[in-house]
Amino acid sequence: MVESIRRLLENNDQWVAEMTAQDPEYFSSCSEGQAPSFLWIGCSDSRVPPNEITKTDPGEIFVHRNIANLVVQTDMNILSVIQYAVEVLRVRHVIVCGHYGCGGVRAAMQHSDHGLIDNWLRTIKDTQNYYWQQLKELKGEERENRLVELNVIEQVYNLGKTSIIQHAWKKGNNPYLHGWVYDLKTGKIITQTNMINSEMALKEVCKFEMGIIGS
Ligand code: CO
Repeated sequence: MVESIRRLLENNDQWVAEMTAQDPEYFSSCSEGQAPSFLWIGCSDSRVPPNEITKTDPGEIFVHRNIANLVVQTDMNILSVIQYAVEVLRVRHVIVCGHYGCGGVRAAMQHSDHGLIDNWLRTIKDTQNYYWQQLKELKGEERENRLVELNVIEQVYNLGKTSIIQHAWKKGNNPYLHGWVYDLKTGKIITQTNMINSEMALKEVCKFEMGIIGS
């Protein structure tokens, strides 16, 4: 146990040495400030690290992660992150990235009791109910994968409906919203939405989805 935590600190020493060898000014320039172009809203899952899977460096992506990449309208944590990223850092793109094999989505699909987290996952159960017409035609992994995709689309919609994004669009600062799903089995990112930078584009996503469920 002690050995495993020690490894992290030793790795850190090694990393500092490597970065400094590459660029002696690296840490002094990093400490001057950040100007990331992207806000990443992703799952906490340890297998989906944003910088690694997009080959980006420290300073490029402002990150918020929670279980099952949810944008919950009453979550002060995510709202604060979005506000800071959009209004102060002025990111150009906000990405909601889910992933196949998401434990949060899987748990939401089960009827068993997982304790406190079931409250957090409630919104995924609502999405499942809402799209049940199309989900009930699918089985097993296919159904779970589709719910992962639908969850991302729902969260992009929730994001677009926050007062922060609405104000930004009204003021003509148009951060683009994106819905992505990462495939653990291939390492590939699959886009789920077009680039969305207006209320009309947001509605298009939902109209499209409404078309699918046929309601
Ligand atoms: Co997950």
